[in-house]
Amino acid sequence: MDFKLKNIPSQKGRIAVVTGANNGIGFETTKALANYGFKVIMACRSKVKAEKAKVEILNTVPTADLDILQLDLSDLDSVRVFAQNCKDNYVKLDVLINNAGVLIYSGKKNGAGIELQFATNHLGHFLLTNLLIDLMPDDTASRIVALSSLAHKSAKIHFDDLNGENIDDAEAVYGQSKLANLMFADELNRRLKKTGKKIIALAVHPGGSDSGLFDEMSRVKYYTFKMLSPFILNSNTSAAKPSLFAALSPNVQGGEYFGPQGFNEFKGKVGFAKRSEYSRREDVAQKLWQLSEEMTEQSFL
Ligand SMILES: NC(=O)c1ccc[n+]([C@@H]2O[C@H](COP(=O)([O-])OP(=O)(O)OC[C@H]3O[C@@H](n4cnc5c(N)ncnc54)[C@H](OP(=O)(O)O)[C@@H]3O)[C@@H](O)[C@H]2O)c1
Repeated sequence: MDFKLKNIPSQKGRIAVVTGANNGIGFETTKALANYGFKVIMACRSKVKAEKAKVEILNTVPTADLDILQLDLSDLDSVRVFAQNCKDNYVKLDVLINNAGVLIYSGKKNGAGIELQFATNHLGHFLLTNLLIDLMPDDTASRIVALSSLAHKSAKIHFDDLNGENIDDAEAVYGQSKLANLMFADELNRRLKKTGKKIIALAVHPGGSDSGLFDEMSRVKYYTFKMLSPFILNSNTSAAKPSLFAALSPNVQGGEYFGPQGFNEFKGKVGFAKRSEYSRREDVAQKLWQLSEEMTEQSFL
């Protein structure tokens, strides 16, 4: 399989939503999609940061066609308002990149008492995808891309402790949310196939990159990370490549999982990513799906 994006024709007339488009990997993904000709809806929590990001993109891609729509994924009402705005203002959606994410160490919860990483990274995207999927043409070029992480590998879904109250390692709670992203993409793809739809759901991980994701790390860890990152990690531009490949390559199949191929999968060329055996468990993916439907109070496929 060829993992390079070659001879991609102009994507003018196509529409993408990128969540978390104002920073890090989402910013680079948005810039690249705009350069390919997409109209990109920047789905951002902070409008001020989004406006700044839009100006920055326009400085390098003057033809960029960018709209900003407010979205707070940790709040299901905000997800509903965002989805309605999309339905009211756009005739279709070709690509949905579920990119936004948080890594937090504080055990913080959203207004509904749900651990913030599970709420933002998984549940918000689960509901968003559910509400937007009807806008997507039934075509293999229609893509839903989930951003998972190397952190999924040591994680499990703790159905008896989703909020991670009894989990000592804060990063394991983040890992759970990223495992949920990967298993959601798999289960979504299986269900799309079963219902005879051609839309494709895939997952990627970006390796590692020095984005805003690590701002809450303990200061010792953070400064060590900052020192080492130029040597061992991807730039945010390279970290966006797996997402772009999943969104644009004509050669991908639903359910595939892509990431960088270099040392420890931290950086390097895009290829098939390694995944944990646990992440392949369909029984867990189905249970997570059912639970997510209950938590979002909305049935899905
Ligand atoms: N960088 C890495 O090494 C790495 C590794 C593995 C996986 N990932 C994944 O890659 C994705 C992108 O992260 P990044 O590294 O680019 O981090 P980042 O620079 O911190 O960007 C995260 C984006 O998510 C947005 N976001 C956070 N909470 C949100 C919410 N409640 N509603 C809407 N948007 C929200 C942020 O918006 P605000 O600016 O408003 O906060 C920001 O635009 C994440 O899913 C992350 O888990 C990253």
